[in-house]
Amino acid sequence: MTFNPALIRRDFPILGRTVRDGKKLIYLDSGATSQKPQVVIDAEASFYEFHNAAVHRGVYQLSEEADALFEGARARVAKFINVGIEEVIFTKSATESLNAIAYAMGNAEVGNRFHLGKGDGIVVTEMEHHSNLVPWQELSRRSGAVLSWFEVTSQGRLDLSRINEVITKSTKVVALTHQSNVLGTVNPLEAIVARAHEVGAVVVLDACQSAPHMPLDAQKLGVDFIVFSGHKMAGPTGVGVLWGRMELLTELPPFLYGGSMIESVTMEKSTYALPPAKFEAGVPNMAQVVGLGAAIEYLMAIGMKNIHDYEMELTAYGLEILKKIDTLKIVGPEDMLNRGSALSFTISDIHPHDLGQFLDSQGIAVRSGHHCAWPLARKLKAPASTRASLYFYNEKSELDALAEGIIAAQKYFSRF
Ligand code: ALA
Repeated sequence: MTFNPALIRRDFPILGRTVRDGKKLIYLDSGATSQKPQVVIDAEASFYEFHNAAVHRGVYQLSEEADALFEGARARVAKFINVGIEEVIFTKSATESLNAIAYAMGNAEVGNRFHLGKGDGIVVTEMEHHSNLVPWQELSRRSGAVLSWFEVTSQGRLDLSRINEVITKSTKVVALTHQSNVLGTVNPLEAIVARAHEVGAVVVLDACQSAPHMPLDAQKLGVDFIVFSGHKMAGPTGVGVLWGRMELLTELPPFLYGGSMIESVTMEKSTYALPPAKFEAGVPNMAQVVGLGAAIEYLMAIGMKNIHDYEMELTAYGLEILKKIDTLKIVGPEDMLNRGSALSFTISDIHPHDLGQFLDSQGIAVRSGHHCAWPLARKLKAPASTRASLYFYNEKSELDALAEGIIAAQKYFSRF
């Protein structure tokens, strides 16, 4: 398929609207949440209009239809990341997926491979967004395990020079982002996964910022758990994915207890179903799961490689024109080596919140602040930055408009 952004934009109704007194919307905040194509909006609405019934419970026609749509979405997710269908668990968000893994590990009893205590270690990185840091801090507090981390260099890359001292024989879990939501850095997983597995640790990959943008193959990545959210990849809000290897999901304790996750229940005790049911207690977010299935079908029809190649072209262009702006400093890698499409930057003498508001007056939506990655912002001495995060529906002309908007802001604020 030939990649045609102008045609793709027509699939997203919101991209046709105007903001701030008739200005064309230029949406550059897809790292926070992506826009949704009509097929996804329709899939969700159609579930409620025609097929709504609680999944996995009924014996009537609506219920069978709801089951087929829900399980069809699971099969699509499995194909999308090349894993077994039964290994895919639906949650309400990537944040919930990460909390679920950390919380479940905290519930593991002595003898279970996930049990953590004093003397054990949890490893993260300095570039995590809060969702992949705070749950591990909490697990460390609950279990007594020591939390340590890979540092970030001034170029926005992970410092792996002390890999054998950071991941040690005591390490039980290594949790890291695939692609930084601030820097755009794509992390070198091979060395980290090899070292983690050498010491018997599991690797949890936060793919929130990579799953929407590149082909992902869990088998090739070699990690043990992957999480991502639906809403950053053209899908609905309220749905996240947790994938884990079957032998690990079998041993990991449940994290929510109740209907549909049981094998047998008496008044005294219960036994639990096999994964994925074991981790999906309660009536799930059915319409959202079905919407995610439609999003994945849409992305796969375009082709994740096509999406990635186009975004790389766009990012290279964005870097080139942003770097020409006086006093603009890129926060993160300034070249295209192992980087994705988040373009964060600071401008001397203009606070990112002021710049964000000025750009908004031009119809341009960017994110300003610490981007939910406060320790990283502190480390890079950029307590706040402006971030333009791109997706396959953006165009070079929108990056031109961003650059023009920044230059106009410089003129405007230089008056004060
Ligand atoms: N982590 C999301 C972002 O980067 C919320 O904006």
